[in-house]
Amino acid sequence: MKRIAILTSGGDAPGMNAHIRAVIRAALYRGLEIWGIIGGYTGMIEGNFIKLGRKDSANLIASGGTILKTARSKEFMNAGGRAAAAERLKEAGIDGVIACGGDGTFHGAHALWEEHGIPIVGTPGTIDNDLYGTDYTIGYDTAINTAVSAIDRIRDTADSHGRVFIIEVMGRHAGFIAMDVGISCGAEYIAIPEIVTNLDILYQRILKQGRNRRTVIIVGEGDDYGGAAVIADMLKQKYEVDAKYTILGHIQRGGSPTARDRVLASHLGVKAVEALIEGKSDVMVGKAFHEVTYTPLVETWTNKKNIFNYMIELSDILA
Ligand code: F6P
Repeated sequence: MKRIAILTSGGDAPGMNAHIRAVIRAALYRGLEIWGIIGGYTGMIEGNFIKLGRKDSANLIASGGTILKTARSKEFMNAGGRAAAAERLKEAGIDGVIACGGDGTFHGAHALWEEHGIPIVGTPGTIDNDLYGTDYTIGYDTAINTAVSAIDRIRDTADSHGRVFIIEVMGRHAGFIAMDVGISCGAEYIAIPEIVTNLDILYQRILKQGRNRRTVIIVGEGDDYGGAAVIADMLKQKYEVDAKYTILGHIQRGGSPTARDRVLASHLGVKAVEALIEGKSDVMVGKAFHEVTYTPLVETWTNKKNIFNYMIELSDILA
């Protein structure tokens, strides 16, 4: 292994830049050449590669987004796109790749290894925290803290007016963000994709608030009703409750990473470089119970990472 490359792919996540920094520094420390692939798998297909040096790693620890840019490449989902990408990597003499992203990124990485034997390790970079094999993903801690500080503000105005507020957070098909944010904000109800939303219980929780009806309801975007707007509409139709709703959206994906995300991104960056040197491939380098883990990429999406039952219980007891 002489020359390795790193890409970021899928939805960006705070801490990706800290991760790139760690990969650059760890590679140089190990005497490897390190290249950046610009624009995720799209850049791989186009051969959009740049050589990185220590200078490129300056000021990355605290910045949001990804200096390597990202994409959700449709072309890479086809065998033809992957063959073109493998060709570009071979032409550039790249011996191994680190792919930072979520399950879409890992599907692509696995296929590249299977079809073309390009050594590739994945690192968990997504705000959703929905990858099996790692306790946390890079970006998750920042995203939940961003959501919490936004919702604390909404709570103030909700309290002043005695209003019911429904706030939708990201998370695609997983309720990790909603659950942690909901508990952190003292939500009266948390709707997550993993559990059927019960409108009657939700209404009872609003009534329980008494005369000042200040109620904070957190909804994960993948819940079975279809999000905050639909729930607000249902509350109006079924119980004549006027509820305001807010969709936090992409604000959760930006900003300077928290200390926790910086540390995780740095640790996994160093370990990903070492994994390639040790000849590992087709695995995600993660961290569980303070230990570095190497999970076969396929298992990161075929095994389901579940929300702990005690969290669900906790949210009910505290509501
Ligand atoms: O996977 C990260 C994520 O932010 C999800 O929570 C969300 O559903 C999705 O990406 C949004 O993707 P896009 O920015 O492409 O609309």
